[in-house]
Amino acid sequence: EKGPYRHFMLKEIHEQPDAVSRVVGQFIDRGAGTLAVHTPLSFDFAALPRLTVSACGTAYLAGAVGKYWFERYARLPVDIDVASEFRYRQPPLEPNGLAMFISQSGETADTLAALPYCADNGQHIASVVNVEESTIARESGSVFPLRCGPEIGVASTKAFTTQLTTLACLSLVAGRARGVLSGADVEALIEALNRLPGALAEALRAEPDIAEIARRLTKARNALFLGRGSLFPIALEGALKLKEISYIHSEGYAAGELKHGPIALVDETIPVIVIAPSDELTEKTISNMQEVCARGGRIILITDAQGAETHGAMAAEIIVMPQVHPFIAPIVAAVAIQLLAYHTAVQLGADVDQPRNLAKSVTVE
Ligand code: F6R
Repeated sequence: EKGPYRHFMLKEIHEQPDAVSRVVGQFIDRGAGTLAVHTPLSFDFAALPRLTVSACGTAYLAGAVGKYWFERYARLPVDIDVASEFRYRQPPLEPNGLAMFISQSGETADTLAALPYCADNGQHIASVVNVEESTIARESGSVFPLRCGPEIGVASTKAFTTQLTTLACLSLVAGRARGVLSGADVEALIEALNRLPGALAEALRAEPDIAEIARRLTKARNALFLGRGSLFPIALEGALKLKEISYIHSEGYAAGELKHGPIALVDETIPVIVIAPSDELTEKTISNMQEVCARGGRIILITDAQGAETHGAMAAEIIVMPQVHPFIAPIVAAVAIQLLAYHTAVQLGADVDQPRNLAKSVTVE
């Protein structure tokens, strides 16, 4: 069932343009260019005091990007934690808040265990899941299905980008309901979302270049990923993806944290992957990149054509992603870090679909 693809992971990476297109269709009436939510909501976005998100691993990182969107576009305060910490923390929850659980499988033990605590503490329950018959889905008042088809590769790819797309759409629904976004704001953001499937297809065309860059990454023992704003969780996801399938030790950092410790690691042996598409924060991230360069670090810059032209000279290698609205840039950048991890792992001879020590669904604590 892998078709022409060598691994399920690669097939699933290539399914992303269609998968995100289906998600956008669940929230946007393309003809009218307006929001049209297909899932009946069991709560009112306008009345929520807070959104509390729990999830694990890559699903947690999707939620971490979502926090930037909900706070910015809906002025909705968001707390997010990994479910294994949340479930034992007993955090105080404001009544009538929304608790959201993000899970591809809908069966992850820690995520599932966090749910009853929220239900018992006066929260509405919503979930973003791929498996619609799953336990988490059954226990939720509102279910936002990813419908990206079975994800066989242990490393999550299309579930991640469909989770992101779902959260992006929901942040606009929330922003509209809460009176934060004007009609014109929503129109521009909807247009950005409508462009997403095409942008991901375009991003995939960088694969040969990325495979070539991966050839050099195979020599590294350690790698550092940097990002700022909504690209910070993508840096964390880049590090997670690379370490779990290639076994190269990698860490993700908020670009601004560099000088608070990790810069001590930088020398000519460490590739530093800087995720900096053009947005209002690019200059800040680029100045962190300069600090890395000054210490001999080897930069792999993930950016767009404009970023490559302005800041490319400093980078040893550049991965050029399509020029998109900053709103959807984290989803586009996700494709670049997935392909980078995939090709590095394949060239190292690793079993990318079935990495050592990992299970697809973590149903024990
Ligand atoms: C990493 C990965 C894991 C899962 C995590 C949560 O590539 O796939 O980190 O994201 O185990 O799984 P779900 O989404 O099924 O709850």
